[in-house]
Amino acid sequence: MVVGRPFLTVEQIQRKVKELADVISNDYEGKDLLAVGILKGAFVFFSDLVRMIRTPLMVDFLIASSYLRGDSTGDVKLHYDIRQEIADKDILLVEDIVDTGITLNCIRERVLMKGPRSLRICTFLDKTERREVQVPLDYIGFSIPNEFVVGYGLDYDNKFRNLPYISVFKKTT
Ligand code: IMP
Ligand code: MG
Repeated sequence: MVVGRPFLTVEQIQRKVKELADVISNDYEGKDLLAVGILKGAFVFFSDLVRMIRTPLMVDFLIASSYLRGDSTGDVKLHYDIRQEIADKDILLVEDIVDTGITLNCIRERVLMKGPRSLRICTFLDKTERREVQVPLDYIGFSIPNEFVVGYGLDYDNKFRNLPYISVFKKTT
């Protein structure tokens, strides 16, 4: 296994998070923002993002998984759901990366069934080429090529989430 040089540096990441937070702050002025981090992958991006948003907000989380050892299983499991009442909330789902779109599509449909006032999606990374299910993305950090990336919350086999930058991951065996 090899984790190479930064593909996105700490500086590039910080600049982008600030840019996203500025747009979100403007869009949610006067609204009842509930930012929902999709765990585990989004935990680093989520905590950076919410600290840069200037409008009042609440936070919650949901835990979903669809990946096993780097390969999509297409099987989405919800391990923990949003605990708050969301009927009067403007929900912003925050995801680390959208790949096939299967996970996010499933999460989006479940959240919509609970009837939030509004629902938008923010993803830090978008692998457009790999999309199998179309999901509307409102805020996108970077569109990236079809490479497996780790760091900044993203893992391979639950490792490398703590890398402060994002790197392309290559298997050598
Ligand atoms: P999707 O359902 O195929 O869109 O998969 C989305 C989930 O797969 C993300 O939330 C990640 O947890 C994981 N994932 C997809 N691509 C990568 C990657 O390049 N590195 C690490 N995790 C990934
Ligand atoms: Mg994820």
